[in-house]
Amino acid sequence: MEISLLVISYLFASVTFILGLKMLSNPATARKGNLIAALGMGIAIVATIFLYEEEGVKLGNYAWIFGGLIIGTITGTLAAKKVKMTAMPQMVSLFNGMGGACAALISIVEFNHLMHGAANGEASFYATLSSSTLLVILAGLIIGSVSFSGSMIAWGKLDGRLKDFSFKGQHIVNMIFLLTALSLTAFILVTKPEEMALYFFIVLILSLLYGIFFVMPIGGADMPVVISLLNSFTGVAAACGGFLYDNKAMLTGGILVGAAGTLLTILMCRAMNRSLTNVLIGSFGASSVPGVAADGKQQGQYKEISLSDTAVLLAYSSKVMIVPGYGLAVAQAQHVCHELEKLLEEKGVEVNYAIHPVAGRMPGHMNVLLAEADVSYDKLQEMEQANEAFPSTDAVLILGANDVVNPAAKTDPASPIYGMPVLDVELARHVIVNKRSMKPGYAGIENDLFFQPKTSMLFGDAKKVLQDLVTEIKSL
Ligand code: TAP
Repeated sequence: MEISLLVISYLFASVTFILGLKMLSNPATARKGNLIAALGMGIAIVATIFLYEEEGVKLGNYAWIFGGLIIGTITGTLAAKKVKMTAMPQMVSLFNGMGGACAALISIVEFNHLMHGAANGEASFYATLSSSTLLVILAGLIIGSVSFSGSMIAWGKLDGRLKDFSFKGQHIVNMIFLLTALSLTAFILVTKPEEMALYFFIVLILSLLYGIFFVMPIGGADMPVVISLLNSFTGVAAACGGFLYDNKAMLTGGILVGAAGTLLTILMCRAMNRSLTNVLIGSFGASSVPGVAADGKQQGQYKEISLSDTAVLLAYSSKVMIVPGYGLAVAQAQHVCHELEKLLEEKGVEVNYAIHPVAGRMPGHMNVLLAEADVSYDKLQEMEQANEAFPSTDAVLILGANDVVNPAAKTDPASPIYGMPVLDVELARHVIVNKRSMKPGYAGIENDLFFQPKTSMLFGDAKKVLQDLVTEIKSL
């Protein structure tokens, strides 16, 4: 009776994971989707703690289990509440690393059980484990460890605690780590039980080292792709745990995370028009000299626009398109941006937002940011839709975006971002770019748009500039 209730709760959890994931694909339903999946996970955890039993024995160890649950819940809640929107990728990376570590720890614990059973000559469950179970334990160990150490390095780099590090022949060293770990895995499967432990821990160390050296050289601009890839590793490692314990909820959750992470990695690479190999071993974000285009040509002069002129231009336009970018997130200017939008609408201006798929530093960054400020979803136009609207737009207001509006992606084959789909802002009548300086964006390259005749630069921190613009427009 209890077991069937357990199975039903796992089935229920699996359904909530799928439903939650589906709802995450739309900003209007994403929050609810997240809660539904979390509820399913909560039920699966509680059901496992109280209903799971093996040979009539329940889990027990409640003090340890609830101690861990309470510490984890408090830490997670505080971290999620305190984190700034711009520091989100670091937190995702840290949490992902914890998932990888859990999967690796499951493998270590289960390997110990296996060894213990074999040493005692027990005909217990663990002593009779097949080599396919051992293979699953080893797969969870390798994938979970790579995900843990790689995510920790990604967190350190995104948080500015670690710098990129690479040396000549690094990819060969990485391959040696990985191939040795895989060869030892094959050896463990055929060797005597008393010899297994040593090789098991060598595989663990090699996997941790591989994770470190795999992520160390990857440039900051490509970190979100790497995090997404590591996230899919964690999913696969968790699915290994699901196989091991014959736990359907863990299996479904792991497979969904693995598949979603892989798809997200592919989508991000596609949105940047780069292959995964190029992201992992190529270099992106070359240094650039201000005033010099990616092809080495000297740029012309840029012109500035005053706040009052910008206010007049926007207030007397009939169609305005706002292009948010990473700088908007840094400045935390989403609320005042929404205020500007409402103010312009009151004056009869049609205002929309053009959302580039990789604007910002993580998937959906701009959607989340604008949703936080209560911007209506139907004002957010995806790239294709926005590109069709630009020719009939009077003024484009670019707020802290750079690479996603760089025309070099279309015109300059020498540019590192050549081929990446971008927003065709230059098709609008006027383009106003707000940023603090002429410094390049994430890709580290000059932007020809800033030097075009119809573009005007409005320098300053996005939040301050928008606040002043709102005051200026109110006084018109
Ligand atoms: P970026 O090209 O990084 O440009 C952001 C601009 O914001 C900078 O040029 C900066 O110029 C400006 N800025 C910074 N702080 C500001 C502030 N307080 N006020 C006003 N402006 C400020 O951003 P983007 O156009 O959003 O492009 C995103 C980049 O990230 C792309 O290269 C993309 O490939 C990469 N990337 C994104 C993702 C995802 S999934 N989103 C994944 C991987 C890579 P100043 O310093 O002069 O102010």
